Amino acid sequence: MAKQKNAVTVPDIASRKRSTPIVCLTAYTTPMARLLDPHVDILLVGDSLGMVLYGLETTLPVTLDMMVNHGAAVVRGANYACVTVDLPFSAYQESPTLAYRSCARVLAETGCDAVKLEGGVEMAETVRFLTERSIPVMGHVGLKPQSVRAMGGYTVQGRGEEAAQKVIADAKAVAKAGAFALVVEGTMESVARAITVAVDVPTIGIGASVACDGQVLVTEDILGLFTEFTPRFVKRYADMGVDIEEAVCAFAEDVRARTFPGDEHCFSS
Ligand code: KIV
Repeated sequence: MAKQKNAVTVPDIASRKRSTPIVCLTAYTTPMARLLDPHVDILLVGDSLGMVLYGLETTLPVTLDMMVNHGAAVVRGANYACVTVDLPFSAYQESPTLAYRSCARVLAETGCDAVKLEGGVEMAETVRFLTERSIPVMGHVGLKPQSVRAMGGYTVQGRGEEAAQKVIADAKAVAKAGAFALVVEGTMESVARAITVAVDVPTIGIGASVACDGQVLVTEDILGLFTEFTPRFVKRYADMGVDIEEAVCAFAEDVRARTFPGDEHCFSS
């Protein structure tokens, strides 16, 4: 789908510091992208798709091929929002050159606007390498789901002075290295606020309080379509899982009672 004239660009997002809050939701497919696109600033093709769409226990097994395929699907459904695609685990941590090759594939094969990667001080060199070569990078600090094993679970980050300073230092390093925005996940309001004050790029919070410059959630979570577990930071705006079950039961009942298809669904001779 060709982008419309007023489509949201990476510089538009970067300029939204301390301005109107940035609205970001995840999308993994063309139909969902079409529905969300007019209403959000950023469509994030998150590697959360591994858990939400594929039933994986963590995001670790998500591959670059999966991200490229879903990224391209979302780009086909978006003509307004800034489409950002996650780099999956193992596609960038090893070296800046590996990261560059993965980003080049994602940008070339999906047509997306930007990539996102997880990491702090340790990834700053890579972020710099990428941004100096014209790859728009969104950072992701705080709770980093790809570090679930090292964290020992999906635990809130930045509790206690030392841990708080570490998350803040991560955010500063990634912003200084050239990231155009930062996802701040799973931390206390005090830490999110300190980061938002300290960095010149917009912060987009998830489980990180209203102190951020914008908010992101997983679409299936807010729609009640992913109910395996609901983190404390999710607000459910609809119960579509229940609607789907009701619709499927009604269809099954119609088929079993031979009341579907009706005459209006059949071709006449
Ligand atoms: O993978 C993802 O969907 C994400 C967001 C929830 C921030 O990283």
